[in-house]
Amino acid sequence: MFNKSLSISIQKVNFPNTEISNVSVLRLDAIDRFLGGNKYFKLLFNIDEIKKENHQTIITFGGAYSNHLAAFASLRELYPTKNFIAIVRGDESMVEKSLTLTRLRSLNVDIQFVHAGLYRELCNNFKHDYFNHFSNALILPEGGSNQLAVQGCQSITDYIPATFNHLVLPIATGATIAGIIRGQQSHQTVHGIAVLKGKDFLQKNIDTFLSNGEKRTTSNYTIHDGYHHGGYAKTTTSLLQFVSQFNEVNDFEIEPIYSGKLFYALFKMLSNGLFSPADNILAIHTGGLQYLPSH
Ligand SMILES: Cc1ncc(COP(=O)(O)O)c(C=O)c1O
Repeated sequence: MFNKSLSISIQKVNFPNTEISNVSVLRLDAIDRFLGGNKYFKLLFNIDEIKKENHQTIITFGGAYSNHLAAFASLRELYPTKNFIAIVRGDESMVEKSLTLTRLRSLNVDIQFVHAGLYRELCNNFKHDYFNHFSNALILPEGGSNQLAVQGCQSITDYIPATFNHLVLPIATGATIAGIIRGQQSHQTVHGIAVLKGKDFLQKNIDTFLSNGEKRTTSNYTIHDGYHHGGYAKTTTSLLQFVSQFNEVNDFEIEPIYSGKLFYALFKMLSNGLFSPADNILAIHTGGLQYLPSH
């Protein structure tokens, strides 16, 4: 599965009721329903750690619908002799409501439910007593966002032709965009569409992700924080309408949490004249389509 040279397609994007023709999409979502999108690249180098003999247990975190947990469950299939533990915010009653959690359980991932306060403490402190009885466990952060993930996401830029001068993607923790910024070419501008509130938090995260590893001499990027539609996983009627119209005129799909906010923002930015017709824009489809009806 984890092959360092994939064939990833780029196709033209249609926007409903417009003549816009200078936007294409990098179909990372097509790699795999659960392990595809940015998850594939976040895990690409983390896999080497997971394989290590001394890590008999792999622990990570997420909410009941987390795409990262869905990818984690697929890893469990690849490494059936290891113990996989998912620390999930909430309680047992969520399993029957969440296809993600149901699948985790069916693949023998041990789900440990904790309340929101402890969840946050554990995410922020891998030396917490909670982890004491798992010896030599490998702990992957929320969203799989660590330095190895940033390194993996940098390799997304290997699939981006130099003919594109604007690269646009959704951002939540900032790890994926940090990788893209590290790999961008000097004539390219990177645009991150924040899917949640909190530009300062995002900026701080991106700075931290960029301050490790190789230093960049140029980095030309912007965070656009006006398109979160109320916050993480929040939606508005106009977003939902846009997503459904967009899906009618394209032969790939978007959902409202990440890719929907990305293309909605791009559409507004194009309509507001932020780009010129001569610009060649590439949207990066980071996946997240675990359970759309056509799958
Ligand atoms: C489908 C999808 N797209 C984009 C993102 C945002 O990536 P990041 O957290 O690296 O900013 C996520 C979360 O990891 C995601 O699940």
